[in-house]
Formats: sequence, C-alpha cells, structure tokens
Amino acid sequence: MTQDVKITVDTTALRHNVGVLREVVAPAETMVVVKADAYGHGAVESARAFVEAGVDWLGVADLDEALELRRAGITAPVLAWLHAPGETFASAAAHDVTPAVSDIAQLESAAAAGVRAVHLCIDTGLSRNGAVESEWPAFFRRAAELAHRLPVEGLMSHLSNTSPEEDGQQAAAFLRATGMLGDLGVEPPLRHLAASAAGLSYDGSRGTLVRFGLAAYGLSPFAGRSAAEWGLRPALTLSAPVTSTKRVPAGEGVSYGYLFRPEHDTTIAVVPVGYADGVDRAASDRASVSIGQRTYRVRGRIAMNALVIDVGDDPVEVGDDVVLFGDPSRGHQSAADWAAASGGITYETVACLSGALTRRYL
Ligand SMILES: Cc1ncc(COP(=O)(O)O)c(C=O)c1O
Repeated sequence: MTQDVKITVDTTALRHNVGVLREVVAPAETMVVVKADAYGHGAVESARAFVEAGVDWLGVADLDEALELRRAGITAPVLAWLHAPGETFASAAAHDVTPAVSDIAQLESAAAAGVRAVHLCIDTGLSRNGAVESEWPAFFRRAAELAHRLPVEGLMSHLSNTSPEEDGQQAAAFLRATGMLGDLGVEPPLRHLAASAAGLSYDGSRGTLVRFGLAAYGLSPFAGRSAAEWGLRPALTLSAPVTSTKRVPAGEGVSYGYLFRPEHDTTIAVVPVGYADGVDRAASDRASVSIGQRTYRVRGRIAMNALVIDVGDDPVEVGDDVVLFGDPSRGHQSAADWAAASGGITYETVACLSGALTRRYL
C-alpha cells in the first residue's frame, strides 16, 4: 500500500521560496539546509531546485549526505557540520565538500586531507557541537597557523531559539569570537549563526550568510505564525486514496483501543497511511484531512499502515484523494496543523516521512 501514499513536491514553490528568502536577507548570502532528505522532501531533487533558484550554499549534517548530492552531479558549495569520530575528511577533499570543524583534531585532519577550506564551528550557548569559549584561544590560534594552506572561509554557530535575550547573548558571544579571530589576522568572509527563525525575524544576528531549513520548504518555524506572512509557499503535499468505506452504527468502537465510538450512525473511510509511513500516532483522533474542499477528522488510533476518517453522511467513495496536509491556500490542512494535533513540531511532521514513500516532483 505504500505505493498508494503520495508525496508531491512542488519544485516551483521551492524555487519561489529561495527567491523570497534571498530578498529577505540580502546582502547576506543564503544557504538551504537539505539534511534529513531535505526535511522529507527528497534531497537531490530539492537541492537541484534550490540551486536553480540561485541559493549560494547547500547545508547538510554529515558527509554521507553531502556525497549523495555530489553523486547526483550537484556541484554547488556544500557545507557539512557533524562528523563521525576519527573522520579523515578524505571524501570531503575528493568531492569538494566544505567541512565545518568543531575542534583542533578535526581541523588537523581537514588540513591533512587537503580540503579546499573550512568553517570553524563554535558553541555560543546551544551546548551541542562546536568549540566552547574556553577552547577558542587554542582552536583559533591553530586555525591561524594553518590558514596559509587551509583558508578559514567561515565561522558558524547555531542559536537555541529560546528567547530574544538568550539568542542575543549567543550573538554577543559570536561577536567576541569574530573579534578574537580578527586579532589573529583571520577574517572569515562567511559569518553565520542564524537559521529560519532568526533569518526571518531580523534580530541583528544574521551575519553574512543565513542557513535556512524549514522556511525554504515554505513552512514556518514559529508556532502560530504562518509562512504565508513572508510570502513563502509550502511545497509538500501528503495524500492517499480512500481504500474502503463502511457504515458504523452509533456506539461501535473504531480502531485499536476503541478511542472513538461515534455518537450517531456514520460512515468511516479507511486511508492506507499510518505511523510506518511517518505519520505521528500521537495525532490519533485529533488531526484532520481534506477531500476536495471538505475537512474530516481522523478518528480512533492511527495504525501502522492505516488511519480512519469520519465522513458522516457525505458521498465519499473508494479512490477519492485524501490530503493529509499540504498548502492551506488550496484548502488543505498544514504540516503545522498536524504538528499541533500530535503535540510535535512542524519539523517532525515533514522530516519523519518515510524515505520509502514515492515522491513526485512538479
Ligand atoms: C546547524 C544548523 N543550521 C541550520 C539549520 C536549519 O534550521 P531551520 O530549519 O530552523 O532553518 C539546522 C537545522 O536544524 C542546523 O542544525
């Protein structure tokens, strides 16, 4: 049944979004983050659309993701920032992938491998990867020593998006790092710590490059604020056909655990998509879907390969196309609606979609 579940990606929307984001942050450059299979949209096809639309950089978490892009013939600059223990960076050098390095060991390996350039990754308060402030003096000194054969093209950090004050403290730490590097004669042209949230809501932390993930897919990083506010368009639609319908008498239990018992006789329709496809089970009995311009509730528990919707007395038929989420301007539920229904975040709604699902590109 997996083949009946369709992910449709509108590459026109992806290209349009890059145009919007480039204008928003100009004169800063733009990177689009295509990690996690381009947030479920399909890495190679999405990356091609972003590059065609003029994005300056592609960003990925690891070198495997970078190499997938290179194998597909994508030659745009690619930055990768999460590395396996003991990474040699030989593949980065061979395929012209730029690593962001988080410590002296990675810096030395990148230099030994002969990569074209590095970005230095620093921790300004997220407490994830990146060198912490006490490590900066030695890290930066070694980068300055190696700079004649390993150019420091960028300085990067990542915000926690906790509050404007806390993000401001990170931006201040980033400036301290820039100053410290400058004192050593290292002035990386690309200074980047903003992702979608800080990139869209100008807060002084944009630097010279913004790494857009979610916003490039036309989705908003802010709960309660639609990406349409910035003129961004969601690109991904998840849909599946009705496979059967049946009349259910009032009081009859529906799906595992009988979470739902209709108050009145009703018709339920079975849709062959479930949590094995990446649809969050936590949205059981809460999310909605659409058929044409009509909206219906998901009822009962979402199962591994199927969910059930309550269509009342409407003339819904086998084969009717059920849109779980897509573009609200076309009457669909949004990925954010599904995230709200499951108590999750929009990132998960798209990024957790199974790689086994067929993706069709418009
Ligand atoms: C280092 C880094 N930069 C940028 C992004 C893009 O973030 P967003 O999708 O919020 O724009 C991510 C995503 O998690 C990231 O890990």
